[in-house]
Amino acid sequence: MDQRIPVAVLGATGMVGQRFLWFLDGHPWFRVVALTASEGRVGRRYADAVTWLLPQPMPAWAADMVLQPTTPEGVGEARLAFSALPASVAREVEPRLAARGVWVCSNASAYRREPDVPLLVPEVNPEHIVLVERQRRERGWPAAILTNPNCTTTGLVVALAPLHRTFGLKGVFVATLQALSGAGYPGVPSLAVVDNVLPHIPGEEEKVEWEPRKILGHLVDQTVELAPVPISAHTHRVPVWDGHTLAVSVALARNAGPEEVVQALASYQAPEATRDLPSAPRPVILVRTEPDRPQPRLDRDTGRGMTTVVGRVRLDPLGGVKFTVLSHNTVRGAAGGAVYNGEWLARYLGWR
Ligand SMILES: NC(=O)c1ccc[n+]([C@@H]2O[C@H](COP(=O)([O-])OP(=O)(O)OC[C@H]3O[C@@H](n4cnc5c(N)ncnc54)[C@H](OP(=O)(O)O)[C@@H]3O)[C@@H](O)[C@H]2O)c1
Repeated sequence: MDQRIPVAVLGATGMVGQRFLWFLDGHPWFRVVALTASEGRVGRRYADAVTWLLPQPMPAWAADMVLQPTTPEGVGEARLAFSALPASVAREVEPRLAARGVWVCSNASAYRREPDVPLLVPEVNPEHIVLVERQRRERGWPAAILTNPNCTTTGLVVALAPLHRTFGLKGVFVATLQALSGAGYPGVPSLAVVDNVLPHIPGEEEKVEWEPRKILGHLVDQTVELAPVPISAHTHRVPVWDGHTLAVSVALARNAGPEEVVQALASYQAPEATRDLPSAPRPVILVRTEPDRPQPRLDRDTGRGMTTVVGRVRLDPLGGVKFTVLSHNTVRGAAGGAVYNGEWLARYLGWR
């Protein structure tokens, strides 16, 4: 008999939903028992209802599954739901699931800022998971909502964590070049983005300037004190399929040159509690030494898309150090990140 934990994917037909199916295919701990979509697709066979966009084939077990409503009844026997819902839908649906005892690992931004909701990157702040105790107590729910950050924040915060711990961060400047898949499907109109760069992604700069401060923040009595690090973000959409590239400059509290920074990045490990989980990135950070790497097409699949790739570490004439970060937005920044959170939750709850 299959002893794996039954899970659901909410919003299984979207860009992130499809990544969930790919990422969960053959997962050692989780077995997908329900797929949900919007009302118009409920009752249809998954393979008939979806526009499959990934270069990898659709997992065979998913093709014949029948799409369910995005409700507590729709997820059936699932104990955990991976949510790839738009934020407005997540805001309404996710609490209903948690109130009915279904744990939710969400990609949506709806609850990231709530003080009792963990914003988790398991290789950075696994200890923040204790916020679920406060959430259950204060909301009276048998389960809880956990969130992963915005896909741009994820790569940035993984690269910042070792620098924050080793040298202290005084300030961060980041300019992004973000892939089209980050806008979901159908996403940005092709006529708007071919031969072009769009210098505005609604709501993105605010997320990138705030979310890393919660993730790097200190936990005091089940409350996160935001890290006192000012972040300035400029975000751009570029005609790349997958993989967000970030140009980052950091001012450090303790002076350090590029060699010391490379050493801190390359030797960084996830905390022990989350280091050996099935989806833990191996390695967490790969530092490339070629002058023209990382590049999205060449480097986004490093570590099955879970590794954060850094390169071009050098002195910044404004003071501090500058470098390039690449992170797979729909894997590490979305589905893979949520599954890693789900694994940490399963261990935390003693399910595994
Ligand atoms: N793309 C990324 O790189 C990325 C990264 C991090 C976080 N996120 C977040 O992850 C979430 C999903 O993003 P995405 O890019 O996958 O979006 P998407 O391609 O637009 O997919 C949205 C999914 O939600 C479903 N849905 C829409 N309205 C619904 C409703 N009223 N009830 C039930 N289901 C509904 C859609 O089903 P139908 O097919 O039936 O419409 C689809 O499965 C968003 O909150 C996004 O901000 C995305």
